[in-house]
Amino acid sequence: MDSKDVKKVLVVGAGVMGHSIAQVFATAGIEVALVDLNKKALDHAMKMIGHNLENLSEFGRLDAPTIPAIIARIRPTTDIREAASGVDFALEAVVEVPDVKKKVFADLEQFAPPKAVLASNTSGLDIFTILEPKDPSRFVITHWFSPPHIIPLVEVAPGPKTDSSVMAFTIALLERLGKRPVVMRQFTPAFIVNRIQSYIFLAVMEILNNNWATPEEIDYAVKISLGIRLPIVGAVQTYDFSGLDLVQDMLKSRGMSYPLIDDKIANNQLGAKTGKGFFDYGGRTESEIVKERDALYVKMADFLEGLNKFRPV
Ligand SMILES: NC(=O)c1ccc[n+]([C@@H]2O[C@H](COP(=O)([O-])OP(=O)(O)OC[C@H]3O[C@@H](n4cnc5c(N)ncnc54)[C@H](O)[C@@H]3O)[C@@H](O)[C@H]2O)c1
Repeated sequence: MDSKDVKKVLVVGAGVMGHSIAQVFATAGIEVALVDLNKKALDHAMKMIGHNLENLSEFGRLDAPTIPAIIARIRPTTDIREAASGVDFALEAVVEVPDVKKKVFADLEQFAPPKAVLASNTSGLDIFTILEPKDPSRFVITHWFSPPHIIPLVEVAPGPKTDSSVMAFTIALLERLGKRPVVMRQFTPAFIVNRIQSYIFLAVMEILNNNWATPEEIDYAVKISLGIRLPIVGAVQTYDFSGLDLVQDMLKSRGMSYPLIDDKIANNQLGAKTGKGFFDYGGRTESEIVKERDALYVKMADFLEGLNKFRPV
């Protein structure tokens, strides 16, 4: 099926993620059945969607007169059987409990049309080994980021048997919603961003627990350094600027070596200083590459300074 022809989807679980994901579909003009076990959760979800939409309108992201039609496209219900009928895409955002996911997917396999794509918003469960689907070719992970109605990234991971047409459809559908899908080659716990974030988490806890710095000092230090650099050079290109020879030494000092890095160094790909590292700078000199980076750093530093949020309170 062409993602442009998707008319109706199902979102199961109306919590922190599900309500906002339903809102994203409805904003793109798609009918959404929003299912939860709990009627109170559905009422709360609809209230939150109303607030989110009003806020987005206030922030200039949405025209206020479109809000009633967006809300009207979302149909909250506790009946998964009826809600699943006729959908082209179903996504579960229920609690991160394997048995609950199993039950929900069993219902989706039973009640959604056989051609519907079935997606999980799991943060870290390998649903492809947990579930025992009749047709694994239509299962995919789409890992959204909170709040889904603002953060563009959705990580998409196929299972070993996910059909390539299901991947293509899912990516195109997410793009239709205005999302920016990043496709992983396979499932890995925590995907890209949460995996990186998990190391930050451990480091923060270690610093706090040892009383090496206060919460305010840590956040201030991060915001006035990584906060300025990360949006420009990401998490990988930054090493092109450090130099991959330094990266190799840093790995060595931890008793580690990665062939990927060793091979690059053997080929004189040291990063910006040799015009090639993780990225190829197309023959530009080190000064040209650094100048472009620094122009952006200056803009980012000035922009963040203007927000006046380097201090938490
Ligand atoms: N919270 C986040 O920032 C975040 C980010 C990315 C992914 N996720 C993942 O998204 C999923 C949902 O997380 P959340 O934070 O929205 O959880 P949540 O607890 O806020 O919401 C889960 C909802 O699922 C409902 N539910 C439970 N069992 C159900 C069932 N059998 N049928 C229908 N509804 C059922 C609950 O009533 C609840 O309203 C989890 O897998 C989580 O790991 C969460």
